[in-house]
Amino acid sequence: MNPDSGETQLLQQAATQAAENAYAPYSRFRVGAALLLTDGSIVTGGNVENVSYGLTICAERSALVRAVAEKGPNIRVQAIAVTNLNHAASPPCGACRQVLSEFVTPGAVILFPGDKGPELRPFAEIFPFAFHLDPQ
Ligand code: THU
Repeated sequence: MNPDSGETQLLQQAATQAAENAYAPYSRFRVGAALLLTDGSIVTGGNVENVSYGLTICAERSALVRAVAEKGPNIRVQAIAVTNLNHAASPPCGACRQVLSEFVTPGAVILFPGDKGPELRPFAEIFPFAFHLDPQ
């Protein structure tokens, strides 16, 4: 996947559309995430904040939970795009990296706004040494 390909742009656009539906009255920082699954479908989510701030769910986890709810526990994510409506950097937080790592393919890539512009990285690069257990 290259940063300027049509596929990447489509995923980015889907993430931005999802950010429009974010619920972020406290931070005013609306984030969108779009997941490209291995079946070729795209599932999106936005952040959903709560007045009890710590209960906020980020866009990435919102998209992932939606993907499992809609398509079942065997989904695999081959690409992720994260965007926000504030023209700011927004790499995925540590909690989202951990949660996404459970469902990514070995070659999965992630696109996000970095400090110096768009970053397209292998997921394994932004979350090395992931904790895992062999399923029972
Ligand atoms: N946020 C995300 O949606 N994804 C991240 O990876 C980092 C932060 C949200 C949480 C909160 O609603 C807002 O951004 C400001 O922290």
